[in-house]
Order: sequence, then C-alpha cells, then structure tokens
Amino acid sequence: MINKDKFPLSLDITNLGNDLTIDEICQRQPIVDMFDSLLRKGECLGNDFTGWVKAEDILTKDEFGRIVACAEKLKAQTDVMLVIGIGGSYLGARAVIEALSPCPEKVVFAGQNISASYMTALKNKLKGKRVAINIISKSGTTTEPALALRVFMDLVKGCEKATLVATTDQNKGALLNLANKLGIEKFVVPDNIGGRYSVLSAVGILPIAYADVDVKALTQGAVDCASLAKNTSLKENPAYLYAVIRNVLSAKGFDIEILSSFEPCLLYMAEWWKQLYGESEGKQGQGLFPASCSFSTDLHSLGQIIQEGKRNITETFLIIEGGEPSCVVPMWDDDSDGMNYLAGKEVAWVNNMAYEATAKAHREGGVPNITIKLSQLDAYSLGALIYFFEIACAITCLIRGINPFNQPGVEAYKKHMFKLLGKPGYEKESVDTQGKQIITF
Ligand code: PA5
Repeated sequence: MINKDKFPLSLDITNLGNDLTIDEICQRQPIVDMFDSLLRKGECLGNDFTGWVKAEDILTKDEFGRIVACAEKLKAQTDVMLVIGIGGSYLGARAVIEALSPCPEKVVFAGQNISASYMTALKNKLKGKRVAINIISKSGTTTEPALALRVFMDLVKGCEKATLVATTDQNKGALLNLANKLGIEKFVVPDNIGGRYSVLSAVGILPIAYADVDVKALTQGAVDCASLAKNTSLKENPAYLYAVIRNVLSAKGFDIEILSSFEPCLLYMAEWWKQLYGESEGKQGQGLFPASCSFSTDLHSLGQIIQEGKRNITETFLIIEGGEPSCVVPMWDDDSDGMNYLAGKEVAWVNNMAYEATAKAHREGGVPNITIKLSQLDAYSLGALIYFFEIACAITCLIRGINPFNQPGVEAYKKHMFKLLGKPGYEKESVDTQGKQIITF
C-alpha cells in the first residue's frame, strides 16, 4: 500500500499566475480521461510502444535478477564501465548515475558523438584500466555507437565473453548478430518500448546497477508512481496536471519550456527530459522547445533573457526539498565581505531562498512557472520522477494528436550523412547541389 502523503513527488502551481486558472485546467478533464484510457488500453497513436506504461511489467523478476547479477560480476572484474549508446540508449542511465551514484566516474560514455578528440581523450583516460563495455542500441544499426564500438573494442580484446555485454533487440539487427557471433552476454530492449522510454529496462538498469545505485528502489519509485497515476483527476494527478498546463501554455503562445534546477547533479536529468519531450512532442509544427538551466550558475547568464527577453518562455523548476548534506556558512570576525548576516545558515537553505526568489522574479517578469518538488534526492524519488515525466509526456502529445513514440524527423540528417559518407545504398540520395557560400574576413 502506497502512503500517498509520504510520496516524494508533488507539483506546486502557485506561480502560474493569471496565465492559467485551475478552472481552465480542469475543463480538460474529459479529454485527459479519454486519452488516459486509450493509452492504457493500447489503442492510442503509437500503441506498439506503450510497454513502459505498466512499470511493473518492464522487467520480469528473473530478468531483473540476471541484470543485477551481471552488474555485480562486471564490478568484480573491472574498474570502469564504458557505456556505448546514443539518445535513449544512454541518457537515462547517465541522468540517474550523475544524480545518485556515489562514484559516477565508474561509468563513462561514448557513442553519443562522433568527436575524434573526445574518443581519443577517453581512450587515454581508460589506459591501464580494466574496462567493461555495455554496447546499447535497440536498432543495432545506429552509426554513432557502431563506430564507437569499433574504436573502443580493443579495450576488451581477448576477454569479450567476460567484459563485453550487448543490450539490443531480441530478434534483429547488426548488433544482435555480432553478439551472437562473439557469444557474449545479451540483454533485451523490449520491442514495445522506444529508446527514450527505456531507462527502466535493461538499457538503464545494467549501467545504473554497475554505478552502485539502488535499482530496486529506483524501479519501485516508478511502479508506485504508475499506480498513483491511475487516478486521472487533474486535482490529484500532478503528472496529468503538468501535461495539461504545458498544452494550455503552448496554445497561449509560450514556445519554450525551461527545466530549471538548483542542483548541478541534475544536469543530465534535464538532458534526458529534453530528449523525451523534444523527440516525442516536436512534430507536425508543434511542441514546446525544451531547454534547461542550471541555477544559480545560469542566473548570471541566461537569467537576463528569461527575465526580460521575448515573453514566450514558461519554466518548470525541479527542486529537491531536503536531504542535502550539512554545509554551514562560516562566521568571519571582521565581516570584511559583509556576509556575516548568513553566518550559521545552511548553504542548502540559501539555495532554497535563491529558488524561491527566482520563481517569484520570473513570474513577475512574465514567465509562468511551476515546480516539481522531490522531498529528497534518492533512487525511489528519481524512479517516481522518471515515470512522472514519461506518462505526462505521452498524455501531453496524445491530447494534441501527436504520436509520442516515433521520431521521423531524426532520419533527415542520416540520409544526407550516409550519402556524404558513401554508405552503400545511398548513392542515389539527392544532396544540395548549390555552391557553398563562405564569407571570409
Ligand atoms: O528515443 C529514441 O528512440 C532514440 O533517441 C534512440 O534511442 C536513439 O536514436 C538510439 O537508437 P538505437 O538504440 O536504436 O541505437
């Protein structure tokens, strides 16, 4: 039985201001109910990819156990795990690891770019270390991770069976073929779960477990959030409330949503969120552009444009309410910097005041904002947050007639790149024949 009062996630809508009233929001209840029902019955747009909705069914107990056992084995045999993947095949794991792992440097990432400098520096960093590689690609054919695997493969040469693990489709793809040929351990990206909704499958759980994060609590947080989210009432379901608020604000001309946090360890959580919303919602000429800020750092740069730039920005704060370590502002005898008024105060309290002040100032500056509050930052609350964002994203898209689970737009660059790279089969693709226009000093 979930104790609703102790659930770590809530949504504060105090700073929405006059842009949106609770009545306006609640008028959308019937449409929310309809799309919730279609999503759960698997009758919505993109219904082949709703396997994450029942969070408790993403992994069987046996598969979960096999993943954790593999992580334990790899931890015993190696010093570091190299996760090779791009988009949904790495962002979720990175987000959770950077937010929670006691040793985030134990997991490093490649295959998320094609930078020779990045790869060379990483290879140098890994020299002399015992490395496990987890290559993750649902399609098994994505260029970036496939290229990175070739570059980094010599790190596991000769011991592939022990330290190379593939997470990919159960039935098809070049990576599956390679894994079968090498006879290495494999994990499945479920058919009915797309990349950006896959963090709680083997895609995320293996690297996250390697990084010593409590994957059981992470999963339980998502399962409990899924259970609570079955109540569709906009007055009691913060995920659906968030979905509706985004849609109404978007209809009112707000084009950008900034996810702002005051904890640097949540930077990759924002990256994961940006992919989830950008790739799910950005279609058919629609979608709030998902941006992120890390405060108070960015208050001294982007803060200006948020406060006084074009008024098309809405903001979602992601705030951790408690559990930070004690770090007290020291007293100075001469008060030469005039900071003694804060002496004896917790830095976490100062940070919280900075958040309160920013939310107020941005509201006054014409930026309607809401706040997702986590009572503390731990595996359980992060699992809940992941599910919250996923279900809200699906409902946000469905209400607007958008398929939340495909990404047709990401193919466009590939067509041009494959032509330029000389990939067999792309010889006939047309590329821009206009001369280049380069302006020099
Ligand atoms: O969300 C998605 O589906 C995408 O971002 C994919 O995760 C990304 O393109 C990587 O694809 P793959 O896992 O097939 O290599």
